[in-house]
Amino acid sequence: MDLGIAGKNAIVCASSRGLGRACAISLAAAGAHVTINGRNLEKLKEAADLCNAAGAHGVKIVQADVSTREGQDALLEATPQCDILVNNNGGPPLKDFRELDREAIIDGVVMNMVTPIELIQRVLPNMEKNSFGRILNITSVSVKMPILGLDLSSGARAALTAFMAGPARSIAGNNITVNCILPGMFDTDRLKSSTATQARLRGVSEEEMAETRASSVPAKRFGTAEEFGELAAFLCSAQAGYITGQSILIDGGLFNTSI
Ligand SMILES: NC(=O)c1ccc[n+]([C@@H]2O[C@H](COP(=O)([O-])OP(=O)(O)OC[C@H]3O[C@@H](n4cnc5c(N)ncnc54)[C@H](OP(=O)(O)O)[C@@H]3O)[C@@H](O)[C@H]2O)c1
Repeated sequence: MDLGIAGKNAIVCASSRGLGRACAISLAAAGAHVTINGRNLEKLKEAADLCNAAGAHGVKIVQADVSTREGQDALLEATPQCDILVNNNGGPPLKDFRELDREAIIDGVVMNMVTPIELIQRVLPNMEKNSFGRILNITSVSVKMPILGLDLSSGARAALTAFMAGPARSIAGNNITVNCILPGMFDTDRLKSSTATQARLRGVSEEEMAETRASSVPAKRFGTAEEFGELAAFLCSAQAGYITGQSILIDGGLFNTSI
């Protein structure tokens, strides 16, 4: 399927591994010019190779912490004419909410709420000029259902979702969409590390813990990053211009709801 985004410029934040990388690969395969980002240069180079193998035309690498002003400047310098923005970042580590001090809470909010809003503010003028923009925020199923220990991550992402609900509608008339994708459990480094933590806390092996977690999903497995990337690319497509202001779950049925 031609997604109608060949030649569009895409910034994919935090994309040297995992879900962000999968978004970059799928966008590259659709013909977008992709700028990838992360803090580890080796991982970025590996991700660039994968984007090139998928058909990328000159992947740009920005090695930077996306939560910082300097990191954002570097992303915008690499891609001043941004048509597609995928907001992604690391998340605060699993922690009992009682142990979070003010600094940790502010860091979490900067990571998962402030940073995406700042980037959206900065890419909007170009999108408005061209009457085309696709903005995706990678949030989490935890926006809809609590996950113990991820309260800060959930709170900051829910705040981002609520914050963008109004702006999404105010810019929709200019063919600019803003959506959130809410991953359930995807087989990435982050999931492996949270599985290891849970295994330690329960005194079971990591394999046993992974099996328990996967079997708690109605689909009886973790999602793959590729499945996530393909959904993201579709939401960035020309055809998805009428989908905006939505929180779209991709979770194998994990969030238990009838509507
Ligand atoms: N996987 C899941 O099941 C799942 C479920 C719900 C929500 N999520 C959320 O989805 C997002 C992506 O998750 P993932 O599973 O893909 O994580 P991951 O496998 O740990 O990958 C995280 C990526 O973000 C980059 N990154 C982290 N902090 C960064 C920073 N400050 N600046 C720039 N890049 C940074 C990492 O590269 P460097 O470390 O080299 O910088 C890496 O490329 C996270 O926010 C996560 O909480 C994931």
